[in-house]
Amino acid sequence: MSQALSTVANQPDGKMRHNLSDSDITIRHNADGTMVHHLASRGLTAEYPIAYVVGTGKVGFSYLISIPPFLFQSPVSYYSQGSQWDVTPGYEPEHVLDFTHPISEGCVFCHSNSVNLVPGTDNQFRQPALSPISCERCHGPAEAHLKNPVPGSIVNPPKLAPAARDSVCEQCHLEGEVRILNPGKHWQDFHAGAELESVMSTYFVRTPASAGEKAVSHSEQLSLSRCARESGGRLWCGTCHNPHSSATNRAQEVRASCLTCHATLFTAQKHQAAEECVSCHMPRIRPNNIAHAAITSHRIAIPSTKPPSDAKPIGGELQAWRQPPADVAARNFGLALFETGRSNKNWDNVYRSYQILSHLPQRDPQVLAALGSILLQQNHADLAVNLYRQAAEAEPSNARYAYVLGVALNAQGKQQAAISELRRSIELDRSVPDPYRKLSEIYEQLRMHALSKQVLAEYLKVMPQNITQRRAQLGF
Ligand code: HEC
Ligand code: HEC
Ligand code: HEC
Ligand code: HEC
Ligand code: HEC
Ligand code: HEC
Repeated sequence: MSQALSTVANQPDGKMRHNLSDSDITIRHNADGTMVHHLASRGLTAEYPIAYVVGTGKVGFSYLISIPPFLFQSPVSYYSQGSQWDVTPGYEPEHVLDFTHPISEGCVFCHSNSVNLVPGTDNQFRQPALSPISCERCHGPAEAHLKNPVPGSIVNPPKLAPAARDSVCEQCHLEGEVRILNPGKHWQDFHAGAELESVMSTYFVRTPASAGEKAVSHSEQLSLSRCARESGGRLWCGTCHNPHSSATNRAQEVRASCLTCHATLFTAQKHQAAEECVSCHMPRIRPNNIAHAAITSHRIAIPSTKPPSDAKPIGGELQAWRQPPADVAARNFGLALFETGRSNKNWDNVYRSYQILSHLPQRDPQVLAALGSILLQQNHADLAVNLYRQAAEAEPSNARYAYVLGVALNAQGKQQAAISELRRSIELDRSVPDPYRKLSEIYEQLRMHALSKQVLAEYLKVMPQNITQRRAQLGF
């Protein structure tokens, strides 16, 4: 896992076509070995050197570009299966393909170690922006151990109580539908040895129909198995995976793990003799929600004779992976309903989130902003301004809160105040296009055409190769 982030991009040169956006991407290497991604679309081009490579290539590699001090994900990724270049997950539905998806705190939390993200921004980093996963991610802070280098002074995962033990791997291997940070917490506040819920809650939807075909994370799959459910917390990732083992016979190692619990399997004549267990009980599956990838089924089931169905997952109720502390349970569940409701356009859930969040005794900035967003959508601009203002005042360095406050002020008809909030948002985070576009729109409304153009030109100074904006500038 320490190899999961690098600056060396050895993958072969190649090409990729994305029809929806009418784009062609060419991948090549400069003489000094730097990989370059070149995009051409309807007469415009954009080209960036690669700053970081994510992955070890089991599934593939994804690439990060830097427009200092910002990091973005390239729209093209390399897939080891079939040795091919294809569109990066998340970019598939874009009508204008570009290097625009910000590399957020969450993304690098699982693939990198120290994250020098500037608070309040999406993707603005201090140097060194990223560094590979270290021992501390599984063994806790090193300070105590360096002062007193005896075995007990580092976290030894198998010795932790089950929830804290599982949290070590879950911080990166449990994805769920949505993760909600506790009030005032950042991803980086989690340290091995603690329970994940002391920093964040994970919510997922458990539906029998979806579990088979959809790639739910390893932690979720394992929790569905009878082995995990009926072994009283003894089964965990480390039962079969030792991050420090380089076993020469992996099949035998896994078989031995199985037999620690199923010792009487063969003597009881319930099972025919077997040299390995994985081919039948943990087969490779091809989930329908990720491209070019097969994973090992961690549901450890009796092999099914039924062919896998193509049934689409049915939406179930959102559940907490483990209950968060009581004082944040309602708040985190409300925010989870809000986030998933909004992204799945499930307005019932958004409405339910409003019921929960508006009754909380305490409102932190994230809750205020969620309530503001719901009210603005219902055309209650006055109420939304009030809530957004409280969020923005509580977190004055947050560019997003300044932006949404600007939008709400404009909806309220207070254009001058809106302009000043949008300006503030741009100062806090220059790479986000939304406040520039909103400002330009407001100047248009005010018939200040020159200013409207000037704002967009400002954005292009920060993001000189941005395709959407250059197209708009050219009038198409
Ligand atoms: C800081 C995040 C992080 C933590 C903590 C973490 N992993 Fe991983 N793990 C990853 C990433 C990222 C990959 C994919 C590596 C790659 O191929 O890029 C991975 C890959 C793996 C693999 C596949 C390796 C291979 O070569 O196929 C196993 C098995 C695994 N992890 C088990 C564990 C276990 C067990 C724990 C807990 C003791 C754990 N991981 C904790 C991030 C993490
Ligand atoms: C919650 C943690 C988490 C987040 C967030 C996350 N990943 Fe991953 N990613 C993983 C783990 C764990 C794996 C290992 C494969 C698996 O689980 O099957 C992985 C696998 C990958 C791989 C394939 C690696 C290989 O060696 O084949 C790439 C590429 C990748 N992730 C890129 C990204 C990028 C880019 C982002 C952000 C936009 C991201 N991931 C967000 C945890 C995460
Ligand atoms: C992905 C998680 C992970 C990472 C990263 C990791 N370890 Fe471990 N480490 C473990 C687990 C799990 C065990 C327990 C293995 C077992 O006993 O089954 C362990 C065991 C150990 C032990 C034995 C502890 C004892 O008291 O028996 C030492 C020493 C150790 N690791 C050192 C390191 C060092 C040094 C690094 C960094 C180079 C590192 N580990 C990185 C997960 C990790
Ligand atoms: C920590 C203990 C433990 C480990 C390790 C373990 N299992 Fe299990 N497993 C159980 C328990 C408990 C059950 C419940 C039924 C029983 O007691 O047999 C079970 C049930 C099963 C079942 C029946 C599943 C069903 O849906 O009816 C299969 C198949 C199975 N295990 C295979 C395996 C294989 C293969 C491995 C190794 C890859 C493994 N187990 C490792 C504890 C474990
Ligand atoms: C009962 C045994 C068992 C347990 C428990 C287990 N795994 Fe695995 N896992 C396997 C086997 C077998 C493979 C196939 C590759 C190999 O042999 O390592 C695998 C593969 C993986 C891979 C590589 C990608 C893939 O899907 O092939 C990752 C990542 C992984 N496991 C993560 C985890 C995590 C995280 C946990 C805990 C939530 C976990 N595993 C628990 C047996 C297990
Ligand atoms: C060739 C495929 C195959 C292999 C290899 C295999 N199994 Fe099974 N296993 C099955 C089938 C099929 C069943 C269901 C048997 C039945 O219901 O009569 C089963 C059932 C089981 C059960 C549930 C038994 C019960 O009724 O309580 C366990 C536990 C189990 N296997 C563990 C293992 C372990 C451990 C290994 C490796 C040593 C292994 N299996 C290897 C096919 C296999």
